[in-house]
Amino acid sequence: MFSRKLLVMYLFVLAIFCFTNDNYAFGNEANKNWKASPDLVEKLTKGRSETNYSEQRVPKYTLPNPLVLTDGAKVTDAQTWRTKRRPEILELFRKYVYGRAPIARPENMSFEVFDLEKKALDGLATRKQVTVNFTGKKDEPTMDILIYLPNASAKPVPVFVVLNFGGNHTIHSDPAIKLSERWMRSGGEGVVKNRADEKSRGRSSSRFNVEEILKRGYGLATIYYGDIDPDFHDGFKNGVHPVFDKLIDGKRAPDAWGSIGAWAWGLSRAMDYFESDDNIDNKRVAVLGHSRLGKTALWAGARDERFAFVISNNSGCGGAALSRRAYGETVGRINTSFPHWFCENFKQYNGKEDELPVDQHMLIALMAPRPVYVTSADGDLWADPRGEFLACRYASGVYRLLGLKGLGVREMPGLDQPVQKGTIGYHVRSGGHNLTEYDWQRFMDFADVHFSD
Ligand code: GCU
Repeated sequence: MFSRKLLVMYLFVLAIFCFTNDNYAFGNEANKNWKASPDLVEKLTKGRSETNYSEQRVPKYTLPNPLVLTDGAKVTDAQTWRTKRRPEILELFRKYVYGRAPIARPENMSFEVFDLEKKALDGLATRKQVTVNFTGKKDEPTMDILIYLPNASAKPVPVFVVLNFGGNHTIHSDPAIKLSERWMRSGGEGVVKNRADEKSRGRSSSRFNVEEILKRGYGLATIYYGDIDPDFHDGFKNGVHPVFDKLIDGKRAPDAWGSIGAWAWGLSRAMDYFESDDNIDNKRVAVLGHSRLGKTALWAGARDERFAFVISNNSGCGGAALSRRAYGETVGRINTSFPHWFCENFKQYNGKEDELPVDQHMLIALMAPRPVYVTSADGDLWADPRGEFLACRYASGVYRLLGLKGLGVREMPGLDQPVQKGTIGYHVRSGGHNLTEYDWQRFMDFADVHFSD
């Protein structure tokens, strides 16, 4: 009698669990959808008790609707999206999150191709190195773009443009790549007193399988992000900020661009160069970034629609992850550790994610109708994989309004099960926070589909 009661209770609890947990499925499906490893959650929680890694502790939240105008009117057609809601959302991100770039394309900006090698990498590629001088004046900030284009193609080629963390010379051991002389973050092989030396050549080549990219018919362009703005907080005294900032009574505006805004602006200047290069198919340029540079790629793609495909790799907080979930890194945490990344206004939402007029699904929606691809990694709970997935899911309504599929699934896929059915691609990969060969292959698969004639 007693045990029967227990059995009934057990079945009752199980039924409640099944109904409330939207990822639960019966039979073989049970392990299909990705979930954070409980062991990892426990370990991380022990190591960082102020950070939430538990789904149960995600606050209840309501997301702003990308398809409702600020005045409350519903967006029900593509034209209203295009002419009213999209500009409105873009402006909210400018004003409250990333800040406003004070200038578009500077009038006297110049390009100098200082290296052209048609038989680079054993004849596989043409290598170009180009200096972009933002103002055209001597001694003012410049950035170097390293470009490899596949020789196998007679036509202009689609290109992936990627900011890198350690200098262009770190992406491949090709000795002809100019060794960066700029400030570098310390740590890591080949960086002494914040300057790179010969030992750092090829150091991050595992993140850039250049030969493989070329063999698949794509070009690669890369820029050291520190050329645009060195990544430390100095009150915006170096990089492009002091050159272009418009101060009000000697002060920066609360919506003045931070470093992510500057890096994204630099990517647009690279796009300006691509438009002048006949070997590059400038209608097929994909912008890709990892981590903080994944946040940057998303912002670059949102503000500059010349990027035809936008890829965020493990971008997390301030990138693809929903801020309101406050899972892993939070708005308060990121603004404290990296006070120079976003605009000053963003700081008023520290611990108050619910009051943000936007959330990151709206950033992804700004890419529509262009393809966008978001990745997460199993071990990278700091970046909130589920929050990254949900942002893609909730951006999908905008794609559907435009007659496209969006993400095309409602549930998180399993590990290493890429979702590539619609115009939003997503995967959660085995392993940790990194940009891997697996990620690149999936991006190229997606580009093959969306860049085909
Ligand atoms: C830190 C930061 C993240 C960022 C990452 C990176 O972990 O908290 O927001 O994405 O650095 O850029 O490597």
